[in-house]
Amino acid sequence: MEIRPLKLKDAEKVRELEVKLIREYFSETIENKWEELPQEWKENLGASSRAHFKAYLDSGLSFVAVEDDEVYGFIFAQMLHHVADANNMVWIENMGVHSYARRNALGYKLLRETLRAGRAMGAEVAHSMLQSDNVPSIMLHKKIGFFMDRREVALIDLKDPNLKL
Ligand SMILES: CC(C)(COP(=O)(O)OP(=O)(O)OC[C@H]1O[C@@H](n2cnc3c(N)ncnc32)[C@H](O)[C@@H]1OP(=O)(O)O)[C@@H](O)C(=O)NCCC(=O)NCCS
Repeated sequence: MEIRPLKLKDAEKVRELEVKLIREYFSETIENKWEELPQEWKENLGASSRAHFKAYLDSGLSFVAVEDDEVYGFIFAQMLHHVADANNMVWIENMGVHSYARRNALGYKLLRETLRAGRAMGAEVAHSMLQSDNVPSIMLHKKIGFFMDRREVALIDLKDPNLKL
């Protein structure tokens, strides 16, 4: 299995894998049936979506695990500037490994590549959003050296027509 930078030719296969993992996540946590969710909303999901893929391709911080031209794992990351007291911060948007290929250190290697590349580009810190019930992901991040503080993320939907600002 090779870990290498994300390429344009990976677009379709990495999209397929990311959507598969998002669906897996939805089926475990959300009652809504995938088929009933709006098509436009589904097309926009994930870093491999048409709107976001290029930014993650160009960032130089996204990697895939491939064998025989099949994609078994991915990490999408980009550099953010002037956040969290840092001039350069690696923002990890999403990562995943095909269920058949898990526990073979692919997730670890993908995350390590992104962190190495980020450090080489001058990043001082990396930020990864974790779901509090995602044990594999939490353990993976801890293994590589991430720490979790007590901060929680607050979100607001600025496109909500009912929002009064
Ligand atoms: C999280 C995920 C990427 C891990 O990928 P992986 O290739 O299986 O992980 P690795 O084999 O590199 O594991 C590295 C370490 O992570 C931890 N880990 C991974 N899977 C684990 C599990 N199921 N239970 C407990 N710890 C686990 C272990 O510490 C492991 O080290 P070890 O094998 O020496 O014990 C994978 O489970 C996945 O794709 N999950 C679904 C998508 C997802 O949750 N993505 C994360 C979004 S932030």
